[in-house]
Amino acid sequence: MSVKPGLEGVVAAETKISHVDGERGRLIYRGHRAEDLARTRSLEEVAFLLWNGVLPDSGERETIRREWASARVLPGYLKDLIAAIPREVEMTDVIRTAVSALGSASFEGPPTREQAIRIAAVLPTIIAFRRHHLAGSEPPEARSDLSHVAHYLYLLRGEVPSPAHVRALETYFVLTAEHGMNASTFAARVVTSTRSDLISAIVAAIGALKGPLHGGAPAGVESMLDEIGAEERIEPWIRKRLERNERLMGFGHRIYKTEDPRAAALREIAVRLAAGEPWFRLAVRVEEEALRLLGEYKPGRRIHTNVEYYAAAVFRAVGLPKELFTPTFICSRIVGWAAHAMEQAESNRLIRPDAVYIGPMPG
Ligand code: SDX
Repeated sequence: MSVKPGLEGVVAAETKISHVDGERGRLIYRGHRAEDLARTRSLEEVAFLLWNGVLPDSGERETIRREWASARVLPGYLKDLIAAIPREVEMTDVIRTAVSALGSASFEGPPTREQAIRIAAVLPTIIAFRRHHLAGSEPPEARSDLSHVAHYLYLLRGEVPSPAHVRALETYFVLTAEHGMNASTFAARVVTSTRSDLISAIVAAIGALKGPLHGGAPAGVESMLDEIGAEERIEPWIRKRLERNERLMGFGHRIYKTEDPRAAALREIAVRLAAGEPWFRLAVRVEEEALRLLGEYKPGRRIHTNVEYYAAAVFRAVGLPKELFTPTFICSRIVGWAAHAMEQAESNRLIRPDAVYIGPMPG
């Protein structure tokens, strides 16, 4: 019995939801290229695809728009709970707590699409309510005429966002909605395999996503760029980290051994929105130097730019603050977590691997 560190290379399930092709750098959602969907589809439509296996027709599109819009209002008790959480508690933990408090008898039993919509639709409202509460401002009244992503930006800013910003953030949401058996999705599947409820599966997934090796990376990319600050500091800053065998945020991936297709798609968006900005020009130079030096320090490791590097650039270009980077990732990945929870619930197998004991035996 040989241990596989990090379960690397272990195939834990068969899935119809997505295919992450690490060698050719492709991401397929239920038979569709994710980048193609990201160009024209909304998160609500892609959630329908991932949860149902087909894209919605025009009638279904109107139905899901209404379903998501009606589920985005925050109940009064949740506003009181969110307001009672101490100021220093970070947003990801506030979301985890608020999602826990959504739990009720209506979430018992196997995960359903209706339950998934009720959680996914209210996440941006939780974030915006908390932001406004901390700022001492009033969030704008919820509207039903804006898409899920447009409404998120509207709640944060108090004004209807530009189509360019909506399309940029919608592209991010669609591209990061689902990614196979990543750590947070695996956490959701483990919880579901015990026949626990969807709220518990999502709370476990949020805890896993928060880590800097996973969904916490975009904020790390932003901090890296802020610390480097100027072209002449790029090489010495990177060399110092690589000499200490530290990880560069936004690079490397367990599956992709070529460029992450999502990074390429988000780079295109960031170029369109921010090509002239000094911070973006620095980000492009840092990427070039990081890839060059990773090749020098980690020869043969095939370490490429991953989704988080240009996610940070898109967030900055649409004006999202660093403390909302991981919370925004939660708002998109909830769709994939719910899809896998529903698929896991169809199986009767409890996920329970083994371990080899290397401790002392009794005399
Ligand atoms: C996401 O799984 C998913 O699909 C995740 C995700 C999704 O959509 O759900 O794609 C989203 O989480 C993307 C990854 C975001 N994280 C980061 O950007 C953090 C930095 N990246 C690394 O921590 C790392 O690349 C991982 C965690 C992403 C992957 O790590 P692996 O596959 O476990 O590889 P490893 O840590 O075992 O590293 C192998 C070698 C090591 O060298 P040695 O110690 O063996 O000499 O490669 C090196 C590492 O030092 N390496 C890096 C590196 N990534 C790997 N060295 C420097 N910087 C890096 N970024």
